[in-house]
Amino acid sequence: MKILMVSSEAVPFAKSGGLGDAVSALSLALARLGHDVRILLPRYYMIPRDTLLPLDPPLGVPLGSGELWCKAYATSMPGSEVPVYFIDFERYFGRNGIYGDSSQSEYEDNPERFALLSKAAFQLCRSLDWIPDVFHAHDWPSALVPVFAKHSERKGSFKKSATVLSIHNLGYQGVYSKEYFPFFGLDWELFHSAGFEYHGSINLLKAGMTCADALVTVSPTYAREIQTPSFGFGMDGLLRARSRDLVGILNGVDTEIWNPATDPLLPSRYDADSMSGKAICKRELQKRFGLGEKPDTPLFGMVARLTQQKGIGELFGKGYGAVEQVIATMHVQVAVIGNGEAWCEEELKRLSALYPNFKAIIGYDERIAHLVEAGSDFFLMPSRYEPCGLNQMYSLRYGTLPIVHRTGGLADTVENYSQETGNGTGFMFDDLTPRSLYNTVGWAVWAWFNRPDHIRAMKAKAMGREFSWEKSAREYVAVYERALSGT
Ligand code: ADP
Ligand code: GLC
Repeated sequence: MKILMVSSEAVPFAKSGGLGDAVSALSLALARLGHDVRILLPRYYMIPRDTLLPLDPPLGVPLGSGELWCKAYATSMPGSEVPVYFIDFERYFGRNGIYGDSSQSEYEDNPERFALLSKAAFQLCRSLDWIPDVFHAHDWPSALVPVFAKHSERKGSFKKSATVLSIHNLGYQGVYSKEYFPFFGLDWELFHSAGFEYHGSINLLKAGMTCADALVTVSPTYAREIQTPSFGFGMDGLLRARSRDLVGILNGVDTEIWNPATDPLLPSRYDADSMSGKAICKRELQKRFGLGEKPDTPLFGMVARLTQQKGIGELFGKGYGAVEQVIATMHVQVAVIGNGEAWCEEELKRLSALYPNFKAIIGYDERIAHLVEAGSDFFLMPSRYEPCGLNQMYSLRYGTLPIVHRTGGLADTVENYSQETGNGTGFMFDDLTPRSLYNTVGWAVWAWFNRPDHIRAMKAKAMGREFSWEKSAREYVAVYERALSGT
């Protein structure tokens, strides 16, 4: 099958979160199954042109009042032959950030930037004379792909191409002023009928979800949750109406990157049969964060974008969050790496200065993220909602037991501890409140000191969990086939 992934992120070229990991790993897994998969990204400023092969001729992309002339480039995914194409358009992508930067959390012209990416997908395929069976779009930035496919491109070359839209996070929908609508070159009638209309504005994800032939989200539980008002972010009605076309497929783990036995970013490697390397990682983590080097103290790690989605209010909310009470009253250490909401960064700094057993690094750093996954005993991930979540899966594979809220992909990947049998791979709670978070951390600490046999067995079980991309890729292929049979 010929599949074009259109995305705003794909590692190692551009990443702000799990989306970048998922798009690349899925593409590689599909290629290993024998499919002709290719990826299309914007050429952001941080991707040096001289590492890419220029393609001729330039593409004239009909948008706005005329044509935008773009240059296209190509390379392949490292270690594979999967082609990666880039749309180069200085005015939109010659900037440091993907969606925004320190001066502007979101670039104002994002609807134009990502409309260009989406529209250029068709132009590029024509110019390569390579017509995909499936266009696979991801989240709001490429949600216009299914809209263009259905309403302006499904003739001629693309008559038989199907579209699939993956929802990695319903919390981000791409809502903008309707003044941008004429830029897309679509008939005003489509403002309503293609699903753009959203309280007088345009909603790109909503239009994509209306027009795609098939919808995927990244875990079975999240697929059910988003059809309810509590998790639907206003889209539950639409998703219920499309429930026959919506499936949940769990992300996998890219074991080339996330494997404690081979991870080059760790000071020492280990596996379930020989765990001494994990103790070395713990010592290194304590040193790196400035925590006391205490092998017997349970260490709780966290790696996250500091946004409300990740439960940062319940964890760090000043005066009510669970963490300050945990570090003040329990014999534990906590190490956090993350960046995001300013108040939260400030609070992490305050706690770091006040408590010797709490240290945070504000920033984004892959090496430290790997060290936290490997060197911690427990991993904090009490997300309010979590479409899939990759970090808890990385933790499991690194023998670091996750503390999670029973929601979305967390519920699908972590198995709750049973004190009676010692079975499980992590610690779960049902209602996200500072109190239940505090109690669950306390429960983990209790097990650490009183049932080390259980902890050992849980780690071994967790490390044996396979989160195979191959299995997920096969499920995607079934979705592609269904989408194709409907067009
Ligand atoms: P989300 O995509 O919602 O942020 P995921 O758990 O799916 O959550 O994926 C997060 C990804 O981003 C993981 O690969 C994680 O290691 C990485 N990550 C998040 N914050 C940081 C950070 N501060 N430094 C390094 N990596 C980070
Ligand atoms: C989103 C979600 C996360 C998911 C990732 C990759 O960023 O927040 O849960 O793992 O996408 O699908």
